[in-house]
Amino acid sequence: MNINYEFGSDNHSGVHPDIIKAIESVNVGYSVAYGDDEFTNRAINKFKEHFGKEIDVYFVGNGTAANILGLKSITDSFNSIFCAETAHMNVHECCGPEKFTGCKLTVIPTSDGKLTVDLLKPYIIGFGDPHMAQPKVISITQATECGTVYTTEEIKDISDFAHKNNMLLHMDGARLCNAAVSLNVDLATITRDAGVDVLSFGGTKNGMMFGDAVVFFDKGLSKNFEFIRKQGMHLTSKMRFISVQFQELLSNDLWLNNAKHANDMAQILFNEVKDIPGVKITQKVQVNAVFVSLPKNIITNIQKKYGFHVFNEQNSEVRWMCSFNTTKKDIIDFVEAIKEAFI
Ligand SMILES: Cc1ncc(COP(=O)(O)O)c(C=O)c1O
Repeated sequence: MNINYEFGSDNHSGVHPDIIKAIESVNVGYSVAYGDDEFTNRAINKFKEHFGKEIDVYFVGNGTAANILGLKSITDSFNSIFCAETAHMNVHECCGPEKFTGCKLTVIPTSDGKLTVDLLKPYIIGFGDPHMAQPKVISITQATECGTVYTTEEIKDISDFAHKNNMLLHMDGARLCNAAVSLNVDLATITRDAGVDVLSFGGTKNGMMFGDAVVFFDKGLSKNFEFIRKQGMHLTSKMRFISVQFQELLSNDLWLNNAKHANDMAQILFNEVKDIPGVKITQKVQVNAVFVSLPKNIITNIQKKYGFHVFNEQNSEVRWMCSFNTTKKDIIDFVEAIKEAFI
């Protein structure tokens, strides 16, 4: 039997047709390589429209590279980086952050993927002690890996705390667009204006084919990034094929419409499953993911038809995700399969 992958990840979806058109539009003639082209220039200007003129922005191939290279450029190997235990950089980057930065990654348990100053405080110790890693970066994910969202004030609290301690705030924004839509704010409000220093801005999960951006809100922090990106093997030669995707995504509200659709679909899915006996919603549904726990045998039954991740084996919690192209019919079919798995 064919397995359906609609709800496994927003990475399982394809590419938005407007992005494909944008890629095709630059597939003519010749263009200077390595980002010295007019399309990259235009894409950078698009970022400046959203995030302000005072940024530096660089494109890389994927979100893991954006996180790791961004962190590498703002740390020394004797530093420590603090993130939630559930952070992608802790769980799913194959200790790349530790390898490339040389830093200690200190992970903090949370109930919902969100760090707070109170959770951070006991871990941020040892300033000036040569025997201890020197605290340098707090990294938060917006929206979190648990599908939850930091409010602007919550981000400000953490950035104030970081800056008071001479530390920096990094944000993994693989799903920043979904978070912005959920909060009904623009992209700068929950990044630049909330005190974020370095942002990984994701496009792939929101309709792009590939590509992520590293955005520096303080140009002083980006001074070595070009070299770090090249050493880190992410200076793409045919850069224009990443750049046009960003230009398209950040034009005509495509970023917003795609994220809104994915979030709305998750609300529909949530409403359809929340009252099924045996299904327990485990996280707030704030973006495009629904987290539920289910009896193990039911998970196995559903997985005969649908591929998705078990997020936490211990409490048999699974993640169902929607994307820019999820349809209501996809949801109806999926919910039917869930109900059948209980029979
Ligand atoms: C929160 C988060 N950050 C970063 C990434 C990394 O993206 P990539 O797979 O493009 O390296 C992912 C991918 O799933 C993610 O969910």
